[in-house]
Amino acid sequence: MSIKTIKTIHDQIVIPFHKAYITDDEISEVVDSIKSGWLTMGPKTVRFEEEFGQYIGAKHSIAVNSCTAALHLALKAINLQKDEEVIIPTMTFTATGEVVCYFKAKPILVDVDKETHNIDPSKIERAITSKTRAIIPVHFAGQPCDMDGIMQLAKSYELRVIEDAAHSLPAWYKSQRSEVRSQRSEVRSQKKKRY
Ligand SMILES: Cc1ncc(COP(=O)(O)O)c(C=O)c1O
Repeated sequence: MSIKTIKTIHDQIVIPFHKAYITDDEISEVVDSIKSGWLTMGPKTVRFEEEFGQYIGAKHSIAVNSCTAALHLALKAINLQKDEEVIIPTMTFTATGEVVCYFKAKPILVDVDKETHNIDPSKIERAITSKTRAIIPVHFAGQPCDMDGIMQLAKSYELRVIEDAAHSLPAWYKSQRSEVRSQRSEVRSQKKKRY
């Protein structure tokens, strides 16, 4: 970019990367929380968990401070071990892979589809080894991944699927909310040989 172009950009209105949609109701809730003295857990967190669970149609909902923390907890829940492998897409935020490293496990990058920027299920299979434990698909920019293809592979190889829904609230895949897919890959039949 030339100096002339940069100057032109600074003299002109810059299109923002993103504009948060925050209503007066939300601002009132924040002010109310601060005034209440409950800055971490408290009745509003419980209410949020209940209402959020209802909103996405999930039986249970746990509030955490970030998507990174949610991914970390999900990997803890599957008891990820050192040196195990987790398949993630090449196109994502660093946190998707970083959380895998918290366990001294290995993020394995699989290329994305050039149209959707979502992990390409046709390229996942060749990345599966005897150490693979899970796949973390990312619904990039709110566009759901090909979950049928991913779940099929996960079922065949007994892999866990943890969806990174940081961009997809809300998003639908075949009329199902992308954030609430259940862990269907636990089915233990049709196990394929891994190398
Ligand atoms: C795909 C994806 N996953 C995870 C994260 C981490 O989210 P947080 O900043 O809430 O920890 C981000 C943040 O941008 C993201 O884009």
